[in-house]
Amino acid sequence: MKKFLDLGPQPLANSYVLKKNLGRKEKKFHLIVGFNPKNYLVSILNTVSKEKMFNKDYPYKSSESKTMRYSFAKLASKLIKKFDPNFVIEIGSNDGAFIKNFNKNKVVGVEPCKNLAQITKKKKYKTYPYFWNLDLAKKITKKKKADLIYSANTLSHIKNFNEIFKAIRFSLSHRGVLVLEDPSLLECIKKVAYDQFYCEHLYVFSTISLQKILDKFKLEIFDIENISTHGGSNRYFIKKKENNFFRINKKVKNEINKELSYGLNNFSTYKKFAKKVMTSKIKLLKIFKKIKDKRKTIIGYGATAKSCTVLNFCGIKKNFIDYFYDTTSFKINKYLPGTKILIKKYNRLKKKNVDYVFLGAWNFKDEILKKEKNFIRQGGKFITHVPYPKVF
Ligand code: TYD
Repeated sequence: MKKFLDLGPQPLANSYVLKKNLGRKEKKFHLIVGFNPKNYLVSILNTVSKEKMFNKDYPYKSSESKTMRYSFAKLASKLIKKFDPNFVIEIGSNDGAFIKNFNKNKVVGVEPCKNLAQITKKKKYKTYPYFWNLDLAKKITKKKKADLIYSANTLSHIKNFNEIFKAIRFSLSHRGVLVLEDPSLLECIKKVAYDQFYCEHLYVFSTISLQKILDKFKLEIFDIENISTHGGSNRYFIKKKENNFFRINKKVKNEINKELSYGLNNFSTYKKFAKKVMTSKIKLLKIFKKIKDKRKTIIGYGATAKSCTVLNFCGIKKNFIDYFYDTTSFKINKYLPGTKILIKKYNRLKKKNVDYVFLGAWNFKDEILKKEKNFIRQGGKFITHVPYPKVF
């Protein structure tokens, strides 16, 4: 593993702080990102135990975003049409935003965060409140194997590939398809979105790295879609190598060629990226300082895990951002890890209260700008660091 980026000491990104705990010392870890020249995998070097990150206090709920709800519904109907699955498993089913689009008898979720797994229970959807592994896979697929396994933004959280893919291979039916979604490394590098790296994102996959890993389990990517989720992701369609129900789409080769011509197989690409990250930090701080010199108010919008990396890496604290707005009930009245900036319940932006808004949830930029048309009309401005720091 060759290191290329040091994002400094960081708290656990989704460990929002209660007021009563503000005085307590937070757990920190050193966020360093590296590249493995053998399998092209980009990953963080110091990891935090999964039990510390994914527990009953996990704050992220898929259903709270309109964009996510809509895209899950659309995707489910597309997958039903395409694969007509008799049995579906979702790994990392969160609060059931995806599985609820399927017939209750044909789908199960796997979700180790018990607060989330509990939510689907009320709606009579079966959710196993455990980490995905071979034992669980054997239990779930005892009677029938899965024609579709779906997992979005979950595999990048899991350290032990061997166990995960072994369990997936075991669970797939002879015509079974695994659909994986994760942030795209190519998009992350192109957009200088270094905030894709935080404690939970152990990896940011490229197609070339994922295919190398899948090879070991006799699995292969047969189709791929570039999607806008999480600021630019890939949706991979994967099958067992011996499954001849599907042909390999030429989009797979195209994506691989795109990645190779960008140099995702070369360490030098990552060194260049790291330099751009340092420049991004300097520019962002300049923007904040300039605004504050004019005594204008800045708040944050979307207290994301991603913003935790940016704020802590750049040293943007309460001196720059008064508070964050967020719609996630669990985060409200808590404080962002590390920087201890207060998170308030979302209120429509008004120019009379706020001059500038830092886009923590830049991945929902379109949805947010649409919602805040009035603020923009009144002369309100946004700050973003992606793809480069700017005010707009
Ligand atoms: P998310 O996309 O999950 O980012 P990360 O994985 O980095 O945490 O988080 C989006 C956050 O933004 C979530 O807390 C909800 C918040 N949000 C708003 O407050 N208002 C909005 O209009 C949108 C779209 C999101």
